[in-house]
Amino acid sequence: MVYPIVLVIHNALRWLVLSSLLAALVSGYSGWLGSRSYQRADQTIRVVATSIAHTQLLIGFYLYAISPIVSYYWRFGASAEAPEFRFFSLIHIGLMFTSVIIMTVGSSKAKRQSDARQKFKTTAVYFTIGLILILIAIPWPFSPLAARPWTRGF
Ligand code: HEM
Repeated sequence: MVYPIVLVIHNALRWLVLSSLLAALVSGYSGWLGSRSYQRADQTIRVVATSIAHTQLLIGFYLYAISPIVSYYWRFGASAEAPEFRFFSLIHIGLMFTSVIIMTVGSSKAKRQSDARQKFKTTAVYFTIGLILILIAIPWPFSPLAARPWTRGF
């Protein structure tokens, strides 16, 4: 059964998405506000954070295709009363997709810029917007829209 395995991976990868995003933000803000030079490590952190987000996006699309919650929503639409059906079918995918696009645009814009301060600033601003959207769209255990566990085991 592939579905529970993908769910465990998607759940766990959220922590890597968040921690790599935080690391990129520390690099971005410390460089921007501290006016230091742009190091290879700053680039690596930015690229790794974007790649982990892309991986989560791909797994998310696969999960979307096989999730019984999503297929139930598209089958029964508005009559699917529990808010989580609508949440995963529309809100979660919409916000997460937008967030990863914003991070990708920010990362490639920062890559093309030559001024160190601008590179840091671009990373800090775009990734902050990305993080806020991700934090809103994660089904935290305390979320009224769709509550899911902090971690999942096999
Ligand atoms: C950075 C991006 C993303 C993060 C951090 C994230 C995080 C999560 C988390 C923590 C869950 C709960 C998993 C569980 O029940 O244990 C979840 C569920 C889900 N995610 Fe994502 N997600 C992201 C992107 C996406 C995208 C882009 C899609 C769709 C294309 C997607 C589709 C889903 C679906 C369908 C579920 C519910 C599956 C089910 O319970 O049947 N996710 N996501």
